[in-house]
Amino acid sequence: MANTNEISRRRTFAIISHPDAGKTTLTEKLLLFGGAIHVAGAVKSNKIKKTATSDWMEIEKQRGISVATSVMGFNYGDYKINILDTPGHQDFAEDTYRTLTAVDSVIIVVDVAKGVETQTRKLMEVCRMRNTPVIIFVNKLDREGRDPFDILDELEKELQISVRPLSWPINIGAKFKGVYNIYEHTLNLFKPDKQHVTDRVEIDDINDPAIDAAVGDDDAAQLRTDIELIDGVYPKFNEQDYLDAQVAPVFFGSALNTFGVKELLDCFVRIAPSPRPVQAIERVVNPEEDKFTGFVFKIHANMDPNHRSCLAFVKVCSGVFRRGENYKHVRSGKVYRFSAPTAFMAQKKEIIDEVYPGDIVGLPDNGIFKIGDTITEGEDLHFKGLPSFSPEMFKYIENSDPMKTKQLNKGIEQLMDEGVAQLFTNQFNGRKIIGTVGQLQFEVIQYRLLHEYGAQCRWEPIHLYKACWIESDDNEALESFKKRKHQFMALDREERDVFLADSSYVLQMAQQDFPKIRFHFTSEF
Ligand code: G4P
Repeated sequence: MANTNEISRRRTFAIISHPDAGKTTLTEKLLLFGGAIHVAGAVKSNKIKKTATSDWMEIEKQRGISVATSVMGFNYGDYKINILDTPGHQDFAEDTYRTLTAVDSVIIVVDVAKGVETQTRKLMEVCRMRNTPVIIFVNKLDREGRDPFDILDELEKELQISVRPLSWPINIGAKFKGVYNIYEHTLNLFKPDKQHVTDRVEIDDINDPAIDAAVGDDDAAQLRTDIELIDGVYPKFNEQDYLDAQVAPVFFGSALNTFGVKELLDCFVRIAPSPRPVQAIERVVNPEEDKFTGFVFKIHANMDPNHRSCLAFVKVCSGVFRRGENYKHVRSGKVYRFSAPTAFMAQKKEIIDEVYPGDIVGLPDNGIFKIGDTITEGEDLHFKGLPSFSPEMFKYIENSDPMKTKQLNKGIEQLMDEGVAQLFTNQFNGRKIIGTVGQLQFEVIQYRLLHEYGAQCRWEPIHLYKACWIESDDNEALESFKKRKHQFMALDREERDVFLADSSYVLQMAQQDFPKIRFHFTSEF
């Protein structure tokens, strides 16, 4: 067993939210506490979401700065924290799903006025699939919003997880006075301030008269009633239940005012999991194992179109990654040596010699890696990634410059390796179909094909509702289905059968008429 100390002090997580709930602001405040940045306003990585229209020049700018903020590592007390950034724009939801494969826990930010929104619900589904422990931060208490008890009910119902408040607000909006920390029995008074930490009142317990003196008799009485209700309704907080993803602790605050953020962070480092065992197809890999293993969860293309060099983001799962050592790229069976691995500390990238489990190492990649690839010291191991989800938008991709067919095909292959979108080949007419989760990705693909590969493509409409992977134990039934639906059959890049349903009715009928066929909406089953 090696590196136990290094492993146990690491906390690798992502902050997720619906756009505008305050993820960027919270990230920035956490970095302020960690001393990783010194003024608010330094993290701008998610500003692309503000241009919700398809402005791909903005995408290019975004890609340029987001390498630096993709992983933000910093030390906080004895802890080494890695925040994995996720794209703010919902068209890049697949990127977020994949990033969630590399984290050990998650903080969800919810706007107190808006409650649980679509994107939060979807991301929580992914957390649930992976049993990822979550902490919820209810943000913007300085603004008028919903009753905190209503919010708790909604969180439980919409996110399908039990909740347990560990802090409690005293009023909200204009009358917001502060937060009582149920976990530590302290009282923090609210003073709007974008840079600094606010006043803490030392109290013995909830009955301390210092509370009355600080917030007034009425609000103190209301707080006591609320806390009594909370203790009556919600079971005592149990750390193991949180680690088992059975219960989500809830904190209240205002990220913009740096209020409630330190409480969140202090509790987070104490209770959040250090790197957890990771399931590979062959076996479970423990972080404490001596030998290095890791997997690629993200590939970032370089902005410089003249040098198609990428950076592969590898999550270290076990052992120690060492610069200059030989490692096996399991998919190809080849051995590579990486002389310039990159560490991510705050917003800087630097060469690093040793990387521990929980950390992310950036490896220069000139076309070796695909999302989901495993690297080891020699063992044939395959980490299970997150399945691809059935895309929501589809278009035929056509070549607009016949002289550049080779470039186009290469570009498409590489962009798919990067996980930009999914490619299906229609078996009826041989045409290539690109499936995405949002319109923006089509524009990214077209732009990048032109600028990085010199290839021109155009999009042609295809009317599709869903692509679903099909299988059956009965080969005859499968073949007969494929024959009946031959116009709507495609293959994915792994040559698996995919049924292209053009309406929900058609899909429903197919499911009804072919009971021996299993229809899957994710690529792993
Ligand atoms: P996101 O990454 O989740 O999309 O959200 P972001 O942090 O960018 O926050 C969205 C907006 O909400 C920002 O305002 C931000 O200042 C504001 N905000 C975040 N936390 C709080 C809070 O605790 N209280 C209040 N009142 N507002 C908060 P913006 O005007 O859209 O952007 P900006 O010009 O301030 O950057």
